[in-house]
Amino acid sequence: MKTIFSGIQPSGTLTIGNYLGAMQHFIPLQEDHHCYYCIVDEHAVTVPQDRLELRRNIRSLAALYLASGIDPEKTTLFIQSEVPAHTQMGWIMQCISYIGELERMTQFKDKATGSKEAVSSSLLTYPPLMAADILLYKTDIVPVGDDQKQHMELTRNLAQRFNNKFNDILTVPDVSIPKSGARIMSLQDPTKKMSKSDSNEKGFISMLDEPKKIVKKVKSAVTDSEGIVKFDKENKPGVSNLITIQSACTGKSVEEIETAYEGKGYGDFKQDVADAVVSVLEPIQKRYYELIDSEKLDEILDDGADKASFAANKMLRKAKKAMGLGRVRKKK
Ligand code: TYM
Repeated sequence: MKTIFSGIQPSGTLTIGNYLGAMQHFIPLQEDHHCYYCIVDEHAVTVPQDRLELRRNIRSLAALYLASGIDPEKTTLFIQSEVPAHTQMGWIMQCISYIGELERMTQFKDKATGSKEAVSSSLLTYPPLMAADILLYKTDIVPVGDDQKQHMELTRNLAQRFNNKFNDILTVPDVSIPKSGARIMSLQDPTKKMSKSDSNEKGFISMLDEPKKIVKKVKSAVTDSEGIVKFDKENKPGVSNLITIQSACTGKSVEEIETAYEGKGYGDFKQDVADAVVSVLEPIQKRYYELIDSEKLDEILDDGADKASFAANKMLRKAKKAMGLGRVRKKK
């Protein structure tokens, strides 16, 4: 059975971008893979976080994973900072990463704006930690959205570099990017990726937005004055984004959607996009509110941390040995 690993940052309530580009695809994989899904809180603190809000977001993300269909009987769900092997392996990955390749990461370039004196060094060393997350579990496949492609290339390079330099122990993972929904754009600026850290709340739909709010946000989404529902990313980025959202929520093809709204303008189309999003999110929200304060959630996370630690420590020991770290100790 192949192994899957993916992670999501608890840096605000997830958007439908996170859901359609990543989380949604995690669910069916559980049936025939060993799955590890992680709440990557150590990644979240690469930018300043409010302590209490971070705690809430970690719990909320755990509940959202479960509410979306993650089954703790089949999957190991855990919090990154509860498995110390991640930062230890992260250090090993940093030691074989080059500053030049890390500075070329587009996410670093986007986030590390302004004076270098005020930018945390962890923004630069974030990708080696992500590589560590993945490589600790002998991961075969990493399902992610389109924006993680470059980090995944680096992960593959680091695994190969480690194997060539030390010992051939790391699995070089493949990336899996969905055909539809891999890059959901902002509703207010469809040339920008939809992001949970957008300062304009109208730009994103949170997974916990009430149906009324969802309808309002979709209706105020930026489109164009043509009134034609046609997929054309270049010239009609707003309409194309809404088509993508509807397609990813309903499973309908782009062509089916275009045909359904021929000669109809944007009114009906936007209402249907909103309805499609609501019908995906409503049942998840219901389960979320049942779980968020439950003891069961803590039990699942405790169990997940134990299982993940067991697997991760095994690989960490191997990696340390391959590099010559520590001592060779006789078994007692
Ligand atoms: P994060 O937390 O930014 O996003 C989590 C997942 O959601 C996807 N995503 C999107 N997909 C489509 N449209 C969007 N607008 C959109 N925004 C986000 C992301 O591609 C991602 O799959 N570095 C990662 C977290 C991470 C990780 C890992 C992922 C840390 N370690 C190991 C995989 C494996 C990140 O910041 O994701």
